[in-house]
Amino acid sequence: MREVRFGIIGCGLMGREFASAAARWLHLTGMRARPRIVAVCDTNPALMGWYTDALGPMQVTTDYRELLANPEVEAVYCAVPHVLHAEIYPAILAAGKHLLGEKPFGMDLAQNRVISQAIAARPDLLVRCSSEMPFYPGAQKVVEFIRSGAVGPVLEVEASFLHSSDINPDKPINWKRMARVNGDYGCMGDLGMHVLHVPLRLGWRPSRVTASLVKRVETRPDGKGGRVACDTWDNATITCTVPDAAGDFPMVLKTWRIAPGEANTWSIRVLGMKGSAFFSTKSPRQWSWMRYEAGGPQGWVTEDLGYTPLFGAITGGIFEFGFTDAIQQMWAAFVDELAGGDAKGFPCATPEEAAAHHAVLTAALEAGVGGQSVGVVY
Ligand SMILES: NC(=O)c1ccc[n+]([C@@H]2O[C@H](COP(=O)([O-])OP(=O)(O)OC[C@H]3O[C@@H](n4cnc5c(N)ncnc54)[C@H](O)[C@@H]3O)[C@@H](O)[C@H]2O)c1
Repeated sequence: MREVRFGIIGCGLMGREFASAAARWLHLTGMRARPRIVAVCDTNPALMGWYTDALGPMQVTTDYRELLANPEVEAVYCAVPHVLHAEIYPAILAAGKHLLGEKPFGMDLAQNRVISQAIAARPDLLVRCSSEMPFYPGAQKVVEFIRSGAVGPVLEVEASFLHSSDINPDKPINWKRMARVNGDYGCMGDLGMHVLHVPLRLGWRPSRVTASLVKRVETRPDGKGGRVACDTWDNATITCTVPDAAGDFPMVLKTWRIAPGEANTWSIRVLGMKGSAFFSTKSPRQWSWMRYEAGGPQGWVTEDLGYTPLFGAITGGIFEFGFTDAIQQMWAAFVDELAGGDAKGFPCATPEEAAAHHAVLTAALEAGVGGQSVGVVY
């Protein structure tokens, strides 16, 4: 099997998720290629021992330029704070490495454009944006249902990503709660790609938006006995108008960091005149749908899907699928494309989708701050 040699820049939460997915690649069946991590980089040297302990000797550096100068590295996973995307992603591409970059692909629209220019200069490289939740089998069922035309004229779409840990005012500050590092989008920059990936993939491009932005926790512990400003938006509810041949429809996007009771809930619900479909990671093995004929009954059907991912795996079909599986499926899609495959018809989020999501979030920020409806400029 072909081996793709990877470097990781940013060895925090998400860097470890990739390393873990790569380490259990034997979980997958029928793959064209497998990843091998040959280099890791983080400005915090304490984080890298975990990688070498688990995976053996490899290049270890605190300077990403050294990793990019390593000819062994063919592809890079970059998972660093948002403010650094526009510096490091173009450097990765200039070094001739394929890239799976973390969302939001630049802290704001201007930084995303810098990244887009660098991508345009290297059409020979594969570039994708991380977004794993659509790889849940239930999410794939909803996509399949919509692509089959079963929905008919759309009434409404709701896509949400809900977190709750920020409800604790004593949760210490980190870079994700600082606008100068995370960006002015706040919760929308953290969670926007997650909620927009499937709608954009299905061709649902909002033309106008309004947004309700919520700020509840103004300061957080600084870890040194004091409190510092927490200046990112906590919650955003974006209401979009989506142009469609069968009639414009509303699409509600919720990116909430304070959603009481929700640990990490991603969901999508599509309501249409002929069919409706719903999936939530809260019930990870189930999806629901309804088919309606004029005058007929309106009954939702709920199916237990079990372990039925896009890329085959050794797990029996009756078992459950979870977050780490979604991460691995996303990586399978990226590695498959690198090896010449079509990612089974569902590639990772593209740079064009990432750029479109910036257009929506930029309009949503303006709409939310100004209390008005704003047109989306793609
Ligand atoms: N796909 C997802 O579900 C998901 C979930 C969480 C975060 N993310 C994204 O992943 C990225 C990283 O988030 P995280 O949660 O892993 O953060 P993290 O803080 O856990 O890790 C980021 C790491 O980058 C390192 N770093 C900072 N500057 C660096 C530099 N110049 N060179 C090398 N390393 C540097 C930090 O030391 C840190 O270890 C962000 O873009 C975030 O939006 C994605």
